[in-house]
Amino acid sequence: MKNIAIFASGSGSNAENIANYFAHSEYAQVSLIVANNPQAFVLERAKRLNVEAITITKNEFMACDALIEELAKRDIDFIVLAGFLLLVPQKLIDAYPGRIVNIHPALLPKHGGKGMYGDRVHESVVAAGDTESGITIHLIDGDYDKGTTFFQATCPVLPTDTPHDVAEKVHALEYKHFPRVIEEIMHSLD
Ligand code: GRF
Repeated sequence: MKNIAIFASGSGSNAENIANYFAHSEYAQVSLIVANNPQAFVLERAKRLNVEAITITKNEFMACDALIEELAKRDIDFIVLAGFLLLVPQKLIDAYPGRIVNIHPALLPKHGGKGMYGDRVHESVVAAGDTESGITIHLIDGDYDKGTTFFQATCPVLPTDTPHDVAEKVHALEYKHFPRVIEEIMHSLD
């Protein structure tokens, strides 16, 4: 059985969706949720899901030796960033080469980079007058929103759409595709 750790900073609806997807899998399970904010709602979800959760400070995350130990203790094979806002330190990338995946709620390379998260991404899409948006699932290589793209899916953006409307469409794509794509990426590493 492979063990997945999900890192999240906020609500964690993707974390919940991924945990539920793997709940009956014989291949992989979500064994740990890591939050960098003790108030993050993802911690409530973890309780409900009966998945172990830990919180870390930004400094602990950046230093990351203790975190790597925690991951090793639990035999974590693969890390999923789902709404996680901190830049992953190189040491963690070196500990999990090719094994850290992120989802960005737009079609990279557009609307990505430092500071581009949450509603800001969808506001940027609407302000640019884009006719489509979507999701990008990519490996982490140390820079915000860069790294090999594994998968993109698109949704239309109508001239009347608000950033909130775009967010809803993008979330629907995330829920539909992210767990399956995680499984695919993990299989490609077997
Ligand atoms: C998602 O849109 C994800 O793509 C982005 O942040 C959002 C997190 O939502 N990086 P949630 O915490 O999973 O509900």
